[in-house]
Amino acid sequence: MRKHLAGALGLAALAAGSLLHPYEATAKMSRQDFGKTPDGAAVSLYTLTNQHGMEARIMTYGGIVVSLKTPDRAGKLADVVLGHDHLDGYFKNSPYFGALIGRYGNRIGGARFSLNGHEYKLAKNDGENSLHGGTRGFDKRVWGAKEAGPNTLELTYLSKDGEEGYPGNLSVTVRYTLTDANELRIDYTATTDKETVVNLTNHTYFNLAGAGEGDILQHQLTLNADRFLPVDKGLIPTGELRPVQGTPFDFRKATAIGARIGQNDEQLKLGRGYDHCWVLNPGPQGMAVAAEVHEAKSGLILQVLTTEPAIQFYTGNFLDGTIAGKGGKMYQQRYAFCLETEHYPDSPNKPSFPTTSLKPGQTYRTTTVYKFSAK
Ligand code: BGC
Repeated sequence: MRKHLAGALGLAALAAGSLLHPYEATAKMSRQDFGKTPDGAAVSLYTLTNQHGMEARIMTYGGIVVSLKTPDRAGKLADVVLGHDHLDGYFKNSPYFGALIGRYGNRIGGARFSLNGHEYKLAKNDGENSLHGGTRGFDKRVWGAKEAGPNTLELTYLSKDGEEGYPGNLSVTVRYTLTDANELRIDYTATTDKETVVNLTNHTYFNLAGAGEGDILQHQLTLNADRFLPVDKGLIPTGELRPVQGTPFDFRKATAIGARIGQNDEQLKLGRGYDHCWVLNPGPQGMAVAAEVHEAKSGLILQVLTTEPAIQFYTGNFLDGTIAGKGGKMYQQRYAFCLETEHYPDSPNKPSFPTTSLKPGQTYRTTTVYKFSAK
């Protein structure tokens, strides 16, 4: 009720240019119980609202972004992320919807790596490879939570030495901030007591026309990347950094996601569409605009800014219409895209890739911003 009122009044006031619109006082956070995991752990759902009525709902299970409502061109709030209405859906049928991914985002080839002469074996949960941290990655853990500011939710997780085969007690903090510039900002930090590998990301599935409202093939995408990482049949990078020039992987100019996705291209076939990592062109300093997506009907624009060197662009190729999501809507193939900021997949086995190792005394620190606007 309050939200609806705020939506109607606030946007009208904004449109009228009023400085005294009702959101001035309403940037806030609230918490509610969201149920229990199968092993009885209580899960909380936090609702963050900014002064424009944008709303992010994030739960402590998996640090999952459950919903993200942002004003479209008409000022209407649309939920632009896939997921479930109830906690149970996330246990039964969720290909990492909205989740924090760790200890290692994307794949590690052969589900093993060596560090300091010691070989570490991981769970093979994706053919011969390890995907997104293993059988029970950070997406399936209940995180500690505290309000670290009016719009900042701080989540913490201690991944024990040996968990999912990884060395070192890794202490992870993820801060979600909903800013008044309509950004969902994610700050990741981690420290370890023994050398390990870390690659944290968020696996939100976006559809700027609204979750469950058709495919994303007409969304226009720009990627600030001159090169991408070709993969083998297990979707492990071959080690080559291939120029996008002249390939369907060239998104340096805004192009419809679907414009070339069906082309007879070896890499598109291996990925069943786009499921690749692009090497980002370095920004002027620190944070660079990695990607921009525009959806014509809603007028929504999503910009992704990051300190990370790469981005995995995935077009929901494995969605197959068997998952009923929010409001009972069926999620078909290509009903969403993911833009997962990260280090390159399989870096622990590719000495030529930027390192993902973290040593005691160092702090892993990365930031990614999902910024929304409409035109
Ligand atoms: C991977 C896909 C995988 C998906 C899981 C993406 O990050 O690149 O291959 O199927 O996550 O939902």
